[in-house]
Amino acid sequence: MIKPLRKAVLPVAGLGTRFLPATKAMAKEMLPVVDRPLIQYSIDEARAAGIEQFCMITGRGKTALVEYFDRAYELEATLKERGKPEALAALRESSMQPGSIVAVRQQEPLGLGHAIWCARSFIGDDPFAILLPDDIVLSKMPCLQQLAEAYQETGGSVVAVTEVPHEHTNRYGILKVGADDGRMVEVTGLVEKPRPEDAPSNLSIIGRYVLTADVMTHLGRLERGAGNEVQLTDAMAKMIGNGPFHGLRYEGRRFDCGDKIGFLEAQIAFALERPDLGPAVRDFLRTYVGQL
Ligand code: G1P
Repeated sequence: MIKPLRKAVLPVAGLGTRFLPATKAMAKEMLPVVDRPLIQYSIDEARAAGIEQFCMITGRGKTALVEYFDRAYELEATLKERGKPEALAALRESSMQPGSIVAVRQQEPLGLGHAIWCARSFIGDDPFAILLPDDIVLSKMPCLQQLAEAYQETGGSVVAVTEVPHEHTNRYGILKVGADDGRMVEVTGLVEKPRPEDAPSNLSIIGRYVLTADVMTHLGRLERGAGNEVQLTDAMAKMIGNGPFHGLRYEGRRFDCGDKIGFLEAQIAFALERPDLGPAVRDFLRTYVGQL
């Protein structure tokens, strides 16, 4: 029996140094893409994949992120009174089922692996998703739903992967690849941010994972890896051989919103998809392109 996937961990303790000064007094996950904060994209994607329980790994200065999911009664009452149903509906996107979201503090920035390990009590023995909110994916079927289906198919861990230029392998977790049917690849090894000359392939992990709970045992050793941090990739590498482990070439376009260019591109790409904004954005883009 394959255990159902109902839990997700969202690490949100990062400092957002690449977006200073914008992130001086605000969590980077609250930066908006079009009109919704980054975190909302991950939450919606997770809900679409059947996730019901969320654990945010927070840190100092991230209180707004937790408060964002509170109900804003006064604001709701005011909007109702003033007859603003659209604003009210937009506000409700951020409402969560009572008891469905918890926050755990990561007291020290010891790396992504350490952040995930902080969720071990929440996870127990259950399989779980990880969504790194910096990454957002524009796709027909939500990326995590694609992974959830692959998890159902294989009964084991699955990570979302994509080919990157060879010179960029040092920015990602990279797969060593076994059997490959063009969509799903068998993972035979994993390396965190290898130099191009050491990389076993150019297939990189994006910020979407479905993992079985045994990853916590490996994370619990708190061994330091690349950048002297506890790396999730290293713990996942230790799982290989103890159960199915696959990479899924997901359908969709991923934007790295932790990077300024990726963030700007996401604004345009997501705005173009919106019926209320797309035509106007197309018009001004034509004007700009004409001036290049
Ligand atoms: C993290 C992971 C890396 C993964 C990447 C995806 O790196 O450590 O394996 O490929 O996310 O966005 P970071 O971007 O936090 O340096």
